[in-house]
Amino acid sequence: LMSARRAHKPSVGYFLTLEGVDGAGKSTYAHLIADKLKSLGFEVIQTREPGGTELGEQIRQRLLSDQPLMPLAELLMFFAARSEHVERVIAPALKSGQAVVCERFIDSSYAYQGGGRSLPLDWIAHLEAMLGAPEPDLTLFFDLCPTVALERKRAHSEKGDRFEEETIDFYRRVRAIYQQRAEDKPQRIKTISTDSDPASVYRQIEAVLDQFLPTLTPSS
Ligand code: TYD
Repeated sequence: LMSARRAHKPSVGYFLTLEGVDGAGKSTYAHLIADKLKSLGFEVIQTREPGGTELGEQIRQRLLSDQPLMPLAELLMFFAARSEHVERVIAPALKSGQAVVCERFIDSSYAYQGGGRSLPLDWIAHLEAMLGAPEPDLTLFFDLCPTVALERKRAHSEKGDRFEEETIDFYRRVRAIYQQRAEDKPQRIKTISTDSDPASVYRQIEAVLDQFLPTLTPSS
């Protein structure tokens, strides 16, 4: 069998992000993925957005609280948190050769602020360019049909954060942008369908990781 797995020098680091609509369960799989990278010889740090730094966690609290925010302010706050996160955590870790597993990154801003809040996508592209952040080596997009997402949420029935209280149309727009990006960037973004049982989700993740994660080659 042909393997797409590449050899990887430890000095370059490896950047993996997890994306998807709320309720797709991506947090559940972050550890699995981190363990896999460790078994391949990487030192791994796990982090998330919004958050990952002191300021980032403060911004997160405000962003997820039920106080309303104007869409542009919301977008800029996500990027303010992201800018700290990239400069203080992600870029230095990659530079030192570590693997970074990050729950949510710039794709979330395209999907939620661009799709969900209907802000122009080129505003997000401008911010992305200003930030100059590294592009993820691999992104797992945990896809979920919005009606299933809502059913799962109702089954838990506790009150969610500001985003979890959004309408089904909001989630349809979020999902549409994710799907579009996955189509536009097939090399980087791999779709994991989470509509079905956890065993099938695991199998899909394993298959993607086995095929696309690099193996570490010693630098000297
Ligand atoms: P979080 O608790 O991380 O949600 P989940 O567990 O579903 O991943 O909350 C993050 C919320 O913020 C989530 O609803 C998506 C939203 N978000 C954006 O709208 N834009 C962004 O750029 C990021 C990073 C997150």
